[in-house]
Amino acid sequence: QESPRIYTKEEVSSHTSPETGIWVTLGYEVFDVTEFVGLHPGGPSKLMLAAGGPLEPFWALYAVHNQSHVRELLAQYKIGELNPEEKVPSTLETSDPYADDPIRHPALKVNSQRPFNAEPPPELLTENYITPNPIFFTRNHLPVPNLDPDTYRLHVVGGPGSKSLSLSLDDLYKFPKHEITVTLQCAGNRRSEMSQVKEVKGLEWRTGAISTARWAGARLCDVLAQAGHKLCETEAHVCFEGLDSDPTGTTYGASIPLARAMDPEAEVLLAYEMNGQPLPRDHGFPVRVVVPGVVGARHVKWLGRVSVETEESYSHWQRRDYKGFSPSVDWDTVDFDSAPSIQELPVQSAITEPQDGETVESGEVTIKGYAWSGGGRAVIRVDVSLDGGLTWQAAELNGEEQRPRKAWAWRLWQLQATVPAGQKELNIICKAVDDSYNVQPDTVAPIWNLRGVLSTAWHRVHVHVAS
Ligand code: HEM
Ligand code: MTE
Repeated sequence: QESPRIYTKEEVSSHTSPETGIWVTLGYEVFDVTEFVGLHPGGPSKLMLAAGGPLEPFWALYAVHNQSHVRELLAQYKIGELNPEEKVPSTLETSDPYADDPIRHPALKVNSQRPFNAEPPPELLTENYITPNPIFFTRNHLPVPNLDPDTYRLHVVGGPGSKSLSLSLDDLYKFPKHEITVTLQCAGNRRSEMSQVKEVKGLEWRTGAISTARWAGARLCDVLAQAGHKLCETEAHVCFEGLDSDPTGTTYGASIPLARAMDPEAEVLLAYEMNGQPLPRDHGFPVRVVVPGVVGARHVKWLGRVSVETEESYSHWQRRDYKGFSPSVDWDTVDFDSAPSIQELPVQSAITEPQDGETVESGEVTIKGYAWSGGGRAVIRVDVSLDGGLTWQAAELNGEEQRPRKAWAWRLWQLQATVPAGQKELNIICKAVDDSYNVQPDTVAPIWNLRGVLSTAWHRVHVHVAS
């Protein structure tokens, strides 16, 4: 038997298009799957996410590949093996504060490496109602702390007439365990559409700065009650501090009104589990806050300290960021004290399939996406147009039915539509309506703001129809 051809990882990574050939690896084996891409039962775009690299992280998400017939099929495309001696060059220096960050899933579309900010690609985002942990969007402002669960303590600072607590993980496990499905969305989701209107400051998030998980933990109201807090000061705030910090010792922080924190119906959690697993490091191991219906920025990760204060958190991210302004406000005129911090988010929806610029088959087209609203407001309808907003059809809502006033999680939606005969292109639009009959604004310009937050205009994709 001939010895196999040997390739380096770098060579494999340069084969990601039909022109160069599309290569993938499994273990040490290298495959040229160029001819198979169009035949993939899961669709070409999903296979392409793994082009030039290992299949394992993707197949770990989709166990359907764990079958002998799939392995046999792949074996036909084998062209060689990786050099087993090859050392992976370390690109991170030890003096780099981010050197200890965790390893991430290769499907994530990275907006910034340090700090790490990344979103799942649209073709995976709505594949599952519950977002798998490895592709849940990640929004970090600082290096990821590496905390020891055995020595971890959560400090709950008492106010007048209450006591301070220092809680270990075991102490937290003793509170009644509360589990809920909650969608988390960053205020900057879909910012890239705003920056197309006029430049904004911030990461260029597309439609993926949103994800959904089952979170489990202690209710914040139960922990505050044990510390002797009562809902008396109506103007009070609960401040959270993360254990992630920059070289000057500045930590991430945020706050929510005490009234929300103390309301058992608001279901604010000190979460230690995400989809049945301990929190992954990127998502706040060992404990994070989950504030259902509220902007992602208040869901403080790596939680170190909780305190009840008369004022909002003095954190930069509470007072000097995550606020909305009129389109006429610029960096010379902005007065951050004049606007409230974003808490509950407005109604939102986006199309994940097809994607902008794609070519779809004539006849029938399947349109898919997500819809969600803040404050526990349920999405009651998603309208879809194929003709730029002249006519509309209601999409089918899928996923978990939501409770009134506690609709913490998104609905996925889908519409099977007929492509009008002779049509060469489609201007697809979606817009959602929540149970307060709030709707999304039709265009971006009137809601443009210098920080590019709250980007919730009708989502539009333009596609070509194959003739
Ligand atoms: C389904 C092969 C890469 C996502 C399948 C099936 C095969 C296959 C044979 C059908 C299995 C069955 O139903 O028994 C392959 C091969 C790949 C590859 C040979 C690489 C060369 C990927 C990647 C992803 C993916 C990278 C995800 C990012 C899926 C999904 C399905 C599927 C979601 C299920 C489709 C459905 O249920 O309709 N794949 N796959 N595949 N694959 Fe892959
Ligand atoms: N908590 C800490 N300690 N540090 C952070 O950088 N980012 C916040 C919030 N909590 C952040 C944090 C922001 S802006 C968002 S949108 C969410 O975490 C993102 O949570 P995720 O990374 O689990 O998706």
